[in-house]
Amino acid sequence: MLSMGFMPPVDTRQITNRSVPITGRRALQSKTDLKGIITHASQSLSEVSGFEHDELIGQPQNILRHPDVPDTFYHYLWQELQADREFFGMVKNRCKNGDHYWVMMRTAPIIQSGKKVGYTSARFLPKAEIIPEWEQLFQDMRRAESKQSYIDERRFKPAYQILNRFIRRRGFNNLRDLVLSTRA
Ligand SMILES: Cc1cc2nc3c(=O)[nH]c(=O)nc-3n(C[C@H](O)[C@H](O)[C@H](O)COP(=O)(O)O)c2cc1C
Repeated sequence: MLSMGFMPPVDTRQITNRSVPITGRRALQSKTDLKGIITHASQSLSEVSGFEHDELIGQPQNILRHPDVPDTFYHYLWQELQADREFFGMVKNRCKNGDHYWVMMRTAPIIQSGKKVGYTSARFLPKAEIIPEWEQLFQDMRRAESKQSYIDERRFKPAYQILNRFIRRRGFNNLRDLVLSTRA
């Protein structure tokens, strides 16, 4: 979205459907500039994703994107960050070789001397048992997206409604509280 014009060094559509285990409790961290270009990546993120540190720096964050994650989810993330709010989400990310890993992720603006200079993110291992329902949720959201003929913001509305129903059915009022409850 915000990163148009960049070409990732891999074919980000190629997937294996193999899940990579995340060992240890280290957060997988990255920082970006205001456009979502990676300026910092932790060794743990590099190890799990299979990208060398140098392959991540200077690339848009969507280098980690897995095609199963609905556009609506990232639209929501950017809406929150641009409004200077933090965003908590469950994310399925693609490794360099097409494998994937699920993480619960916190993203937030970096404020220096009262000015927003970029964004930071930390990803943690979620409880394994919640993955199947998130797989289903993302599938339902993507199906709703694919039926939309709008090309503006309106195309996200049905998938947002599906996400909100999912949150409420689990007894939460917002995505943040639901995501925080999923930490392993
Ligand atoms: C700090 C930060 C961390 C992000 N982390 C991820 C991530 O782990 N995986 C991901 O797919 N997108 C992540 N994004 C969102 C991407 O910038 C992008 O919006 C998303 O991958 C969808 O990209 P696309 O619309 O260009 O396909 C992050 C954005 C920011 C600002």
